[in-house]
Amino acid sequence: MDAHAKPDAGGSVAGAAGSAIPHDSSHLHVSGEATYTDDIPEPRGVLHLAVGMSTRPHARIVAMDFDAVRRAPGVVEVLTADDIPGDNNCGPVVADDPILAPGLVQYVGQAVFAVAAHTVEQARKAVALARIEYEDLEPVLDIPTAIATGSFVLPTETLERGDTAAALDKAAHRLRGELALGGQDQFYLEGQIALALPREDGDLFVYSSTQHPGEVQHLVAHSLRRHSKDVVVECRRMGGAFGGKESQAALIACIAGLMADRTRKPCKLRLDRDVDMLMTGKRHDFIIHYDVGFDDNGRIEGIDFMFASRCGMSADLSGAINDRTMFHCDNAYYLPNVKILSHRCKTHTVSNTAFRGFGGPQGMFGIEYAIDDIARYLRKDPLEVRRANYYGVGQRNVTPYQQVVDDNILEEITQKLVRTSDYAERRAEVREFNAQSPVLKRGLAFTPVKFGISFTATHLNQAGALLHVYTDGTVHLNHGGTEMGQGLFTKVAQVVADELQIDVERIKITASDTSKVPNASATAASSGTDLNGKAAQAAAQTIKARLTRFAAEHFRVAESAVVFRNNAVQAGDATVSFAELAKMAWFARVPLSSTGFYSTPKINYDRSTFSGRPFYYFAYGAAVSEVIIDTLTGEYRTLRVDILHDCGRSLNPAIDMGQIEGGFIQGVGWLTSEELWWNDQGELKTHAPSTYKIPVCSDVPEDFRVEILESGLNREDTVFRSKAVGEPPLMLGLSVFYALRDAIAAVGPDGCLPGLRAPATPEAVLAAVSAVRATQ
Ligand code: MTE
Ligand code: MOS
Repeated sequence: MDAHAKPDAGGSVAGAAGSAIPHDSSHLHVSGEATYTDDIPEPRGVLHLAVGMSTRPHARIVAMDFDAVRRAPGVVEVLTADDIPGDNNCGPVVADDPILAPGLVQYVGQAVFAVAAHTVEQARKAVALARIEYEDLEPVLDIPTAIATGSFVLPTETLERGDTAAALDKAAHRLRGELALGGQDQFYLEGQIALALPREDGDLFVYSSTQHPGEVQHLVAHSLRRHSKDVVVECRRMGGAFGGKESQAALIACIAGLMADRTRKPCKLRLDRDVDMLMTGKRHDFIIHYDVGFDDNGRIEGIDFMFASRCGMSADLSGAINDRTMFHCDNAYYLPNVKILSHRCKTHTVSNTAFRGFGGPQGMFGIEYAIDDIARYLRKDPLEVRRANYYGVGQRNVTPYQQVVDDNILEEITQKLVRTSDYAERRAEVREFNAQSPVLKRGLAFTPVKFGISFTATHLNQAGALLHVYTDGTVHLNHGGTEMGQGLFTKVAQVVADELQIDVERIKITASDTSKVPNASATAASSGTDLNGKAAQAAAQTIKARLTRFAAEHFRVAESAVVFRNNAVQAGDATVSFAELAKMAWFARVPLSSTGFYSTPKINYDRSTFSGRPFYYFAYGAAVSEVIIDTLTGEYRTLRVDILHDCGRSLNPAIDMGQIEGGFIQGVGWLTSEELWWNDQGELKTHAPSTYKIPVCSDVPEDFRVEILESGLNREDTVFRSKAVGEPPLMLGLSVFYALRDAIAAVGPDGCLPGLRAPATPEAVLAAVSAVRATQ
């Protein structure tokens, strides 16, 4: 057993909690055998769908002519908003997301109609034959226009503590900044897809690549004017989701469901990459203003933030996402006096949605920029200023939303990472290098992460599981979580293996299925394992308790003398295999199936005052990144990255390592190479990998040293004391952005504050270098 295993783990079953076993499907992923929705054998008579999209950002539909579409080869049916029997809505919170545009289009790419044909090619070709007449309306395309015209999807929110204006007035120093921060496409490898099968009596079975099968079930049912009981949604796995399939998979499933209902034929809708990028939402881009007052040591005395995000045409999940921005614009720092204003701008662009970090990264970007500015202004190492502002003990440990930070391990992480990364030596080396190198400049940055774990909507923090033990001692495991590559299914199986003390191979991991576990929350907010692991553990404990009682009676020993260990059960002097005991229990008519349920304790939160304890605990980490830039071209490379990340007592260090590395690289992509670009007609012009650059293997740092914090332990009673890991590492990517800024600053005099927008593409770096040079 490795260092992460729980010390009291009995026996040594394969795949016990804490063991670094591979992802349960890794052999299928690499051999291409893993079944994604598109790989499910197509039923006889399946129809393929394609979607006709709006070409206008904001317009009334005056006329639609589908004659040519209907006459095109292979076309079976055309569907418009008028053909929807139930609710024309797939919005998760507010009913403002039409499935098919109801006479009004609000973004280029919006679904207007769907075509069913015998082949994909026939459907896609037929779509192009539609003639739609629009009457253009004035679009709002960007954040400044939205603010100026009062165009918002949800009301503006404010969170305040102390007297920020007075603190700013009194502070020894004061700086202001205006930042532009780009969005990001989820770029899951498997595009959005659904396959809907009509069942008898108008029922529907839907395979959907979704993080939220329960919501898809409800929305499909409503669109058909049916009930949840009439629709079953299943998802074995997604080829990546990253938040992009939290709410917006419903659009695809609803279209497939509606067409299947209308044609009474199986219907499959798989978006190709360009359509997927045009039609579905991304990470919110932001404009951030700050006004910060601080003392000679760089300690913040007051900060006034304005966050404005581009939500697009509807609310989607923007309320919770922007709330999380407000909750994370402190990152790791104590802000004694703070005012946070959050605008949720409505624009005639695609409705932005969840993306790993869920608004948190944007909040952190804001405070990290302010701190970087403070340090440069005071001519201090930014690390020193970061540390001076860390949440501490006593008075300096309450967040702006009144949660006490009582599990802070950042100082420990910082000390260790500073040592293992040779931060001080390399800081000196970088300075020396830059003094002698006129064209190439190096930069170094340390950034911390503190990320709150739980859904901020308290009611979502619940999960269910269903567990069957068969008479051969093997187990069928089901829970409300979904697998998107993050290893949730593996981890939950490990929890059950450990609890029942059987090898993980004896556990069948099964597809998420709304008919097995009802009303499950989305697998999101990094809480998949925390919630479903506990629910599955509870189910396993129920069965274990029944088996214990049975064994005690059968072998005439006390229940305390019944011990489950290493695929066997010991009852006093007798030992039987787990399988034997299962069979005996079955003969004795002991139920071998159980549900399990979990709801996160201790959390409470009042949204009307933005206060309480929205998070069960915090996950922590830090990164040190070093970059080199070419000041003549703006090109750069990441030379070395050191990461130390807290997973509590890791359930699976191999999987957690993958999450840390992958999350970090995805964060770097967001802040460097991934640039979304819309023209002034509201058309997204970067809708394929040819124009939108996600990180690839060659973008992995040349020297990449990632470590899981060894002494990690969750102070809260999470499953085997582990911590959530899905999202927090993404924000470690901030270190690369601030290392780039550090390198750019080396072009100017001490104390210069280079303006660098995100993403810091080579073009942006060059512009920043040129701007610094121009002021000299
Ligand atoms: N990892 C992989 N490989 N693929 C994904 O789509 N999504 C991320 C993260 N890691 C994702 C991933 C996001 S946005 C979240 S919220 C969590 O996984 C969700 O899973 P968890 O709660 O089980 O960590
Ligand atoms: Mo993750 S953005 O919470 O799906």
